[in-house]
Amino acid sequence: MASQTHSVFVTGVTGNIGGAVAKLLREQHGWDVKSTVRDPDSPGAKALAALGVQLLPGSWDDIPSLVDAMSGIDKLFVCTATHVEDPGLEQVHAVNIVRAAQSVGSIKQVVICTSVGVFSHQEGDKAQHSTFFDKVMTAKRVGERAVTEDSPWKWTILRPAIFMTNFLAPQVDYFSPGFRASGVWRSTMTSETPLALVLPEDIAKIAVTVFGQDEKYHGRVLGVAGDVLTVEDALTQLGDKTKRSYTPYYMSDDEIEEQKESLCFTVAEKSLRHMADNIDLDELRSMADLTSFKGFLEKQEELVKLAYSG
Ligand SMILES: NC(=O)c1ccc[n+]([C@@H]2O[C@H](COP(=O)([O-])OP(=O)(O)OC[C@H]3O[C@@H](n4cnc5c(N)ncnc54)[C@H](OP(=O)(O)O)[C@@H]3O)[C@@H](O)[C@H]2O)c1
Repeated sequence: MASQTHSVFVTGVTGNIGGAVAKLLREQHGWDVKSTVRDPDSPGAKALAALGVQLLPGSWDDIPSLVDAMSGIDKLFVCTATHVEDPGLEQVHAVNIVRAAQSVGSIKQVVICTSVGVFSHQEGDKAQHSTFFDKVMTAKRVGERAVTEDSPWKWTILRPAIFMTNFLAPQVDYFSPGFRASGVWRSTMTSETPLALVLPEDIAKIAVTVFGQDEKYHGRVLGVAGDVLTVEDALTQLGDKTKRSYTPYYMSDDEIEEQKESLCFTVAEKSLRHMADNIDLDELRSMADLTSFKGFLEKQEELVKLAYSG
């Protein structure tokens, strides 16, 4: 990345993706990193402050707090949170962040991170999608549009795939209900449709590459993954690491339809089958050193074994 330093506002710094972006920009590139936090005394906020991340109290519901905290920045990373109880909140937050950014006037580049699901989301087609997926992806689309339409800055959209960490506890019980107990991984996938998986730290690496080359990546929409592999291969790799054997269960269309109201995309959303269609691993690997699923299982061996030991 170019050695020039910049001042960047990173949203969601206490979260997985925002935290990884803030850490990488501070620790490895020495950029000024700013953000707002809702609780400055949280362990996550304190750890970031110790790295030199400038934190002001604020929230995405409070535009003036964002405008204050964005003062003097030239780059912005937007990654909002999904609110299970009210998915529409995410688009309100994204629009608030962009409004604040527009009023600041000094921003030259914005990177927004949403989800690989946006690629296959047929907007307004409620028959195609599970109810929750449709709401979440609609919110993410609104955020993308807020960043890209009539924008005064260079922009790039990152659409990350499923986190590899969803296979760790406790997340695994939300993303793959019943899997740890039964050893059966039930999903909307088929034996042919590959999973696209990524580590939040690798999303951060791609974001940092994009921040370093604003002209090159302006206007690009990148699906982001560190690995693409069949369900069977993923389960075999997990089984090798945990010394158990796991079985894929490929749901029928009728079974998927019955799950339409589930909050778990893995068993409710058929378009997951297309998640890998927009992942160009060669390009992504030219941008950053990325972690394969096998590499993740190695790296997190202790947590992986802990999750599947019961
Ligand atoms: N899990 C996956 O497989 C996957 C795959 C692709 C995309 N995604 C998407 O990635 C996004 C980010 O995920 P993540 O894991 O990094 O999220 P996360 O760890 O849950 O972090 C969420 C962040 O949002 C902040 N936040 C929430 N509401 C806020 C508000 N009203 N004002 C200010 N800050 C607020 C939280 O701050 P506090 O510390 O104050 O709560 C936290 O920093 C999500 O939208 C998700 O849909 C996830």
